[in-house]
Amino acid sequence: MKQVTYGGLDFVPYINREQIAARVQELAQEIKRDCGDVNPLFVCVLNGAFAFASDLFRAYENDAEIAFIRLKSYDGTGTTGNVKQIHGLTEDISNRTVIVVEDIIDTGFTMKKLVADLEEKNPKQVKVASLLYKPNSLQCDVKIDYVGFSIPSKFIIGYGLDLDEQARNLPDIYVLKED
Ligand code: IMP
Ligand code: MG
Repeated sequence: MKQVTYGGLDFVPYINREQIAARVQELAQEIKRDCGDVNPLFVCVLNGAFAFASDLFRAYENDAEIAFIRLKSYDGTGTTGNVKQIHGLTEDISNRTVIVVEDIIDTGFTMKKLVADLEEKNPKQVKVASLLYKPNSLQCDVKIDYVGFSIPSKFIIGYGLDLDEQARNLPDIYVLKED
């Protein structure tokens, strides 16, 4: 692995594919242990979580289903500014265990809103699995049940994460290089 450049910015290797794969296996086992035989619905938040969700779902060794949503931003008139709306969830989640699968939680606002919206659909429970988490960036109370890696508040790319839609296809995770 060596340095990569996107949008004129240099990135250096940070978490390699073997580390990611090992952690994803552990998370899948943790979720399985907690879920028992409830046939959970994994909800992948597109676009960023596609790689993680694909690996996590295949590592989950019990009955489960998967669905995909997008969060559609619109200009809110409220004080919170840019509110995000769920787009594309057609499954009936009432009385089901939902595992939200996200790539990264930064300020936490996205996840907070998403969980609140899902809760309105009367699921049995909503759990959150995020591959990455920046604890020092968190600005609201959001419960994260499964975290792959807690990382410093630095910009990262790869394994689904993008810089202006580029770099999602990197198999490893890279961090912005500091001068
Ligand atoms: P939050 O609402 O601030 O938690 O926003 C989370 C979203 O911001 C993620 O789903 C990503 O799309 C994006 N994001 C946050 N940090 C990074 C990063 O380091 N690299 C790429 N995208 C990021
Ligand atoms: Mg995202």
